[in-house]
Amino acid sequence: MLTEVTATRYVTPLREGGSLPGLVEADDLGLYVMKFAGAGQGRKTLVAEVVCGRLARRLGLRVPGLVSVALDPVIGLGEPDEEVQQLLKSSGGLNLGMEYLSGAIGYDPLAYTVTSEEAGRVVWFDALVNNVDRSWRNPNLLVWHGELWLIDHGASMIWHHNWPTAPTAAGRSYDAGDHVLAPFAPDIAAAAADLAPLVTEELLAEITADVPDVWLSGEPGFDSPDAVRRAYAGTLLPRAATIHEHIVQAPSAAPAPARRGPGWRTGDTTHQGATA
Ligand SMILES: Nc1ncnc2c1ncn2[C@@H]1O[C@H](COP(=O)(O)OP(=O)(O)OP(=O)(O)O)[C@@H](O)[C@H]1O
Ligand SMILES: [Mg+2]
Repeated sequence: MLTEVTATRYVTPLREGGSLPGLVEADDLGLYVMKFAGAGQGRKTLVAEVVCGRLARRLGLRVPGLVSVALDPVIGLGEPDEEVQQLLKSSGGLNLGMEYLSGAIGYDPLAYTVTSEEAGRVVWFDALVNNVDRSWRNPNLLVWHGELWLIDHGASMIWHHNWPTAPTAAGRSYDAGDHVLAPFAPDIAAAAADLAPLVTEELLAEITADVPDVWLSGEPGFDSPDAVRRAYAGTLLPRAATIHEHIVQAPSAAPAPARRGPGWRTGDTTHQGATA
């Protein structure tokens, strides 16, 4: 289960973010980026954040820690912004909190280089959960303390919006042509060899157990939250085994440029205009 904290103060909305995520302080004195249960995208966004965020972590990718945040809408009463007030009012109960990476900056492939190994791991993971939300237009990657962090998995696993089609999802291809890390020659084969064996029935059972019941109950076609959990696991397990064969990479993806290692591009003359 996710650790549960209680929201004590709505601090500020985040400048970006279609779902109007906000910064919230909790009773453990932590600051969290909160994704609201009452946001237009609905609770499946929160389920996707938990399943993908927990899975990515277990595969060794960097994702901010997740908690569930109990919210009493009363903390929104003093909010001057009506849209925020409405969001808080409709989000009483459990919401999703993500550790706030203070000082993190949005990822820019022109300023920060990744190895083909790391690019391969991120692309393979995104293919597994069918995350179409990591393009150069909207990278949903942060750089924090000099390292790459993955955020925003709310739009992944599109099959959970139409469960009867989920059994065919295992074989569905993933177009990585638009992926923000495509220019770094992602080594998909190495990522698949390392990561696919880690995606076991046991691991998926553990991860899906972290999703609060309240976000799973009442799902049409399922008689219990556990049945929905099994559906997530049952879709990801076969997909993990074969997805590397179905990743379509951009034909124009440039080969990984020679570099000393991952990180900020400083004085690297192989990249035109690349000064960090
Ligand atoms: N854990 C975090 N630490 C620091 N900043 C964050 C964190 N999570 C999100 N942000 C910031 O908030 C912005 C919006 O977050 P996020 O992308 O998760 O929201 P969203 O509503 O799903 O966005 P969209 O749908 O527009 O991509 C991010 O682009 C980033 O700048
Ligand atoms: Mg985003």
